[in-house]
Amino acid sequence: MTRKVLMDADPGNDDALALMMLAAQPDIDLVALATVAGNVPADVTARNALDLVAYLGLDIPVAQGSVPLLAPYERLSASLMGPRGLGAAELPHAEGALSSLPSAELIWQMLCRYPHELEILATGPLTNLALLIRLHPEAPRLMKRLVLMGGSRFGGNTSPAAEFNIHTDPEAAHIVFSSGAPLSMVGLEVGYDHRLRREDFARLATCAPWIGAFAGQLFFYPGTPEHTLSERGWPVFDSLAAAVLIDPEAAETAEWFVDVETRGELTYGETVVDEKGRLKQKPQTKVVLGYPHDRYLELLAQSLKALD
Ligand code: BDR
Ligand code: CA
Repeated sequence: MTRKVLMDADPGNDDALALMMLAAQPDIDLVALATVAGNVPADVTARNALDLVAYLGLDIPVAQGSVPLLAPYERLSASLMGPRGLGAAELPHAEGALSSLPSAELIWQMLCRYPHELEILATGPLTNLALLIRLHPEAPRLMKRLVLMGGSRFGGNTSPAAEFNIHTDPEAAHIVFSSGAPLSMVGLEVGYDHRLRREDFARLATCAPWIGAFAGQLFFYPGTPEHTLSERGWPVFDSLAAAVLIDPEAAETAEWFVDVETRGELTYGETVVDEKGRLKQKPQTKVVLGYPHDRYLELLAQSLKALD
């Protein structure tokens, strides 16, 4: 039986890689791509999504999403990824139109079409999902699985305490974490274990000459520091979250209560992971602790080969 999957994303280079991985799976029917403001503003993530979907030959609805109400515009940054958030990749302008539904309503439509079956991969700020839950409180109950890239157990990448997707809209993240949705959280530290360097992209371009080369261009941008490409590597967070959704069995997880700090002056947007159960709350989140890098690389290479 094919799995029904919807992606809610802010493409974004690693979001684009995650989309490719989902699109390539023979047992996954990717039913829609909802977009949200994040790596770049809402109209740009929607444009990127339309162009990516056409480039990959997918026939799925694409929706434009919400702008985090409380996030100042400057918080959305594309400094390392170029003005479109897609590095040096060049995409032809697609003719297709956006869905007439905004992202939250497109997600709702798909949940109603595939109740208890739909799996969601969220790789951007959680604004759309929070809106969905506010508008349709029964939505979390209809989800089969919600894998999100966001947060961390220790520290952040946007502030000392907070990860970018959560920090961009902490109130939304709080709504999602408190909603009863069947959550798996792929946080920063697991992403840092899966970095791709120049040589990895070169290898992918050898096994999948067209799409492998495109994948590499997503991460190469004149503004990207050389050490990011050659030594440190790009932590490809969202594509790791895609791997977790594709093959959850390979992930090492622990079930903990997680909530989001929405008031702290220094800790705004921090994901608080109650590993010791001190808050006496029922654990509601499968926190991913690790994923075998070999398995991730194999899934990525297989996906790009299948798309090429
Ligand atoms: C997350 O932020 C974005 O820049 C990436 O696409 C990823 O979803 C990592 O903090
Ligand atoms: Ca993202």
